[in-house]
Amino acid sequence: PSARTFYEEVGGEPTFRRLVARFYAGVRSDPVLAPLYPQDDWEGAETRLRRFLEQYWGGPTTYSQERGHPRLRMRHAPFAIGPVERDAWLRHMRDAVDSLGLTEEQDATLWGYMEMAAHSMQNR
Ligand code: HEM
Repeated sequence: PSARTFYEEVGGEPTFRRLVARFYAGVRSDPVLAPLYPQDDWEGAETRLRRFLEQYWGGPTTYSQERGHPRLRMRHAPFAIGPVERDAWLRHMRDAVDSLGLTEEQDATLWGYMEMAAHSMQNR
């Protein structure tokens, strides 16, 4: 039998739904981050991030079926992401990850990736 993916281990789609819902609730009320996002498509933004993360952690590959290769750095190029934006993003993500009740090891795995990814998305 193949090894359980991290996606399955943390609870699959419901867990990722909770993660992005909590994250975007924070982002939407953040005066620095909110203006960067499509004001008429918050739901779409939430779905794109969720599907990307689900795919990254071994879940369904819906993200790439709909969006193609992630090319995340390129897709973020239009948004000015300096240290302030990066840290605000990470703060809301930290809060969202905390809300999941993961084990210490799962938390470290997920958080290590988020920190690395957020630093790599900085473009200013
Ligand atoms: C899209 C901001 C970091 C994953 C977006 C969008 C904005 C944004 C404004 C457009 C919303 C949309 O229409 O989808 C930021 C900021 C970051 C950041 C300010 C701070 C560092 C990250 C990180 C990841 C990520 C670390 C991955 C772990 C995505 C994905 C999309 C997206 C998957 C949708 C791409 C697409 O298919 O079009 N981000 N982002 N972002 N972001 Fe970020």
